[in-house]
Amino acid sequence: MTGHQHTHTHHTHTHSHSHGHGHGHGDAEDFDWASFGPVLEQSADLHTPVVEQAAEWLRGLLSGPVRRALDVGSGPGGAACLFARAFPDAEVVAVDGTPELLARARDRAARLGVADRVRTHLADLPDGLAGAGEAELIWASKSVHHLGDQQGALNRLAAALRPGGVLAVAEGGLQPRVLPRDIGIGRPGLLTRLDAAQEEGYADMRAGLPGAEETVEDWPAMLTAAGLTGARSKSFLLDLPAPLDPPARRFLHAELARLAERLADRLDATDRATLDRLLDPDDEAGVLRRPDVFWLSATTVHAAVRPAD
Ligand SMILES: C[S@@+](CC[C@H](N)C(=O)[O-])C[C@H]1O[C@@H](n2cnc3c(N)ncnc32)[C@H](O)[C@@H]1O
Repeated sequence: MTGHQHTHTHHTHTHSHSHGHGHGHGDAEDFDWASFGPVLEQSADLHTPVVEQAAEWLRGLLSGPVRRALDVGSGPGGAACLFARAFPDAEVVAVDGTPELLARARDRAARLGVADRVRTHLADLPDGLAGAGEAELIWASKSVHHLGDQQGALNRLAAALRPGGVLAVAEGGLQPRVLPRDIGIGRPGLLTRLDAAQEEGYADMRAGLPGAEETVEDWPAMLTAAGLTGARSKSFLLDLPAPLDPPARRFLHAELARLAERLADRLDATDRATLDRLLDPDDEAGVLRRPDVFWLSATTVHAAVRPAD
């Protein structure tokens, strides 16, 4: 439910994997990232404490000041804005292939009072990274997995680091738990089955990407293979106990609605009916109203340093 099953097609792209690259599993249909603006913004709001903690952890890995930082595959720029606050001497560039999301990043920066130091750069990754310039800190959250050649993408990100700089990729982690195992409707264990269905959808999404390469997703090893040193990982918990507050509920509702739609073919009729009830705003048992809804997830950040020349 953290967004990793998104498919990847941009109207700004010169390529599209949705025609001719797909493997016929129905998960690589045209995808409009711009339509994800609202839910990506909700996600950025909810994950603010996670990114703030990650920024502090990364500060400890840096050997000098951050003058320039990149948020690669920024979406609406949640991390870009928080990095501008955490590193007050830095210019931060939000890099993404979706103009509508970069417009949101600029609006967000203005709302947070950091518009003077947050810029946006429209780029089709990974090739477009070349135009984004160098930085002491490069952050890529849930974006590398949307690129066909993940190791190749890390190599390019590492090459954009200044000596002593840090590359941090947020990938993996733990899918959110949001409901008890038995919710009193349907068959217990719905979330586990949603995880399994997502995993299949994710595999199809990756297989359908242009230039898709199978990779052992050992992120620290991949960072090391990109020429970086001191690779390490740290996970940050987002622990919002029940009863969840309304903004978090709305985010959860949007995420579940998206999963219900995307994974419908992979779920049985009982689970689909359960999801219908969970998504019904008028149902007492729905996630917008039931008292036992919570949010517990972990974001894992893998980071490594570019050695001094
Ligand atoms: C799952 S979202 C992650 C957004 C944000 N970093 C976060 O952690 O919430 C993936 C982002 O990568 C961007 N993206 C995916 N493939 C891309 C590509 N080939 N070139 C440029 N941007 C891409 C999308 O536009 C989207 O904003």
